Amino acid sequence: QAEWTDVLAASELPADDVIGVEVAGRDIALYTVGEAVYATDNLCSHGNARLCDGFLDGHEIECPLHQGKFDVRTGAPTCAPVTEPVVSYPVRIENGRVWLALG
Ligand code: FES
Repeated sequence: QAEWTDVLAASELPADDVIGVEVAGRDIALYTVGEAVYATDNLCSHGNARLCDGFLDGHEIECPLHQGKFDVRTGAPTCAPVTEPVVSYPVRIENGRVWLALG
């Protein structure tokens, strides 16, 4: 059973971009792709860089440090030098709020 955490108002989300938010002491990256919203851990799995400082291109986030890439839908690595996924979290939009299941 997932526990849902209220993160922020959906109106605070940028369009087709990424932002960093702190949720229950965790650093989370939120991505918007059209109407869809995705969430992953913000720290790159390759080094000390925050994905919210990177570049979102469609469903791919490019890390600002060595330009590795992840699929924001799954956290899977899609471009070297990253080889490890980042954790992704289920997102729900309800009553104008963005909710995350942090597990
Ligand atoms: Fe992200 Fe190296 S720290 S690709």
